Amino acid sequence: MCGIVGYIGKKNATEVVLNGLQRVEYRGYDSTGIAFIKNKSIQIYKKSGRLTQLLSVVQPDDNITNVAIGHTRWATHGIPNDSNAHPHSDNHNNIAVVHNGIIENYRNIKTMLLQKGYNFSSDTDSEVLAVFISSIYDEQINKDITEATRLALAKVQGTFGLLVISKIEPNKIVCARRGSPLILGIGEDDNEFIVASDQTAIVDYTKKVIFIEDDEMVVISNDGYYLKTLDNIAIKTKETSLIEFELGQLEKGGFEHFMLKEIFEQPETIMNATRGRMIQELGEIKLGGLSDFTDILTNMKRIIIVACGTSWHSALIGEYLIESLARLPVEVEYASEFRYRNAPLLDTDLVIAISQSGETADTLEAIREVKRQGVPVIGIVNVVGSTIARETNAGVYLHAGPEIGVASTKAFTSQVMVLLLLSIHLGLLHNKLSSNKAKKLIAEINKLPLQINKILSNKDKIKDIAIQLASSPNVLYLGRGLGYPIAMEGALKLKEISYLHSEGMPAAEMKHGPIALIDKNMPVIVVAMGEQDNKIWSNVEEIRTRGGRIILIDNEGNSAGRVNKEDIIIEVPRSVIEVSAILGVIPLQLLSYYVANHLGREIDNPRNLAKAVTVE
Ligand code: M6R
Repeated sequence: MCGIVGYIGKKNATEVVLNGLQRVEYRGYDSTGIAFIKNKSIQIYKKSGRLTQLLSVVQPDDNITNVAIGHTRWATHGIPNDSNAHPHSDNHNNIAVVHNGIIENYRNIKTMLLQKGYNFSSDTDSEVLAVFISSIYDEQINKDITEATRLALAKVQGTFGLLVISKIEPNKIVCARRGSPLILGIGEDDNEFIVASDQTAIVDYTKKVIFIEDDEMVVISNDGYYLKTLDNIAIKTKETSLIEFELGQLEKGGFEHFMLKEIFEQPETIMNATRGRMIQELGEIKLGGLSDFTDILTNMKRIIIVACGTSWHSALIGEYLIESLARLPVEVEYASEFRYRNAPLLDTDLVIAISQSGETADTLEAIREVKRQGVPVIGIVNVVGSTIARETNAGVYLHAGPEIGVASTKAFTSQVMVLLLLSIHLGLLHNKLSSNKAKKLIAEINKLPLQINKILSNKDKIKDIAIQLASSPNVLYLGRGLGYPIAMEGALKLKEISYLHSEGMPAAEMKHGPIALIDKNMPVIVVAMGEQDNKIWSNVEEIRTRGGRIILIDNEGNSAGRVNKEDIIIEVPRSVIEVSAILGVIPLQLLSYYVANHLGREIDNPRNLAKAVTVE
């Protein structure tokens, strides 16, 4: 989703900001732009399309400046064209703003400004904000761009991550946040600053950061920075943090796409998710982030998991695991639906929020609703220091490293891994799991990196299957038990990056309607994996009888004697059922990747998608 970068310091700000925009490209966008002050006037360059379009009209070396702001836009209000791209300016070209989020009352403000004689050249809510700030500035006796911004923000409803520069006060950037992430990077000698919506844009220059909270402003200049609230109360001290990942993790490392690199990182990311958390000899799990939560974990009676997209699929696996290993009731909710359903929570509930980015607006709002009802909420999050990580009461990090490909892969398997660890932990706490069984599960988990490598080494076969699949406009994914969420996740991966229509569902549901779609042109991917074995083979027969083409994901040796010569089978190493979900999804990730690659899709930045969905 939209990305923001701003820089002030001794380096060439144009270069730093353009580099930062390249770092946030992965979030998904449809236009880009940059503004800086040169020869005492605001220069704005913006283009629809990819960053290369912008680079064709603005070159860092021709535009050396010390203050610049930039933006990648993911269209909400107004189609993705040059004039709707950010930065936006006011009617006098005195200021430039970049804005993430949505100004919900922009129509009322626009009407008021039109009545006062102001004009607009775009369809965006963000231009309204720029003109609104400028109109307040016009009316001020003691002209002050920071105060004009603050007063404007006091009147807007909605969300913003906002940067403002002004040619009248040229050596500063005014920044503000409500509901859209903003991080301040503190560079050399504490008088160089890079502010961005994403840590990836900062890490090239510094690892020292401050997380700006909702309803806070920060003003940065060559002389330093100061923070205050939007209610105009000075913030005297604010903790600094260190970015935890390395620059090398933001490179492709020889792979054609980030997505492929991230699929191949999974043997390692699975180990990172478990490192220091399993005590094999004792059959115990240690989750440091939950150590103060033992009483709540022991006394709660029901778990509700909120998440979106791929994280929602891992939540479904979590439901299965917690119910079977800890015998606790679990409900899985789409965060967006849960947030507005006014669902009654009980004192004995525990909510788990799952999010790779830690910035998903739907999930964040669900968390806020849970906290409003006074129920504890823990996070399972990848991005360290993200809003969800900070707003939940406690949590467990995935430690999967930055996930750049828009289609989530390694974060998904790490989420499932952490949910498995949590399920074992809860099973032990609630005396529903013996330490012997826990030891066996830990032993199986320890085999995973080698088993994943084995699946990855089968990539050429999966690529061949993908090339056959690429000509099918529709693909069905079926599974039972744990195979069902894996089927859902496989279908989501395929549609996201290949744009083929695909649907995942419980295998038994097929006969209640979707079976009408089955004919010789319909490939059906069946995630078998030993789950309800006889039943799933009956479903396979139902498809065969109607001429459907079967692609089977199954445990090694399990299908022997049952496959027809027309069936395609992808085998994965055998494990216990609780662990096998992680193995079952990997061929589906590869399959989607190779289909999309065969079709020439933009795999890391698929159309219309955003990495972190920061609007509701
Ligand atoms: O960052 P989150 O895990 O909260 O994101 C949730 C979804 O937006 C995300 O999983 C989305 O479905 C991905 N594009 C899946 O590949």
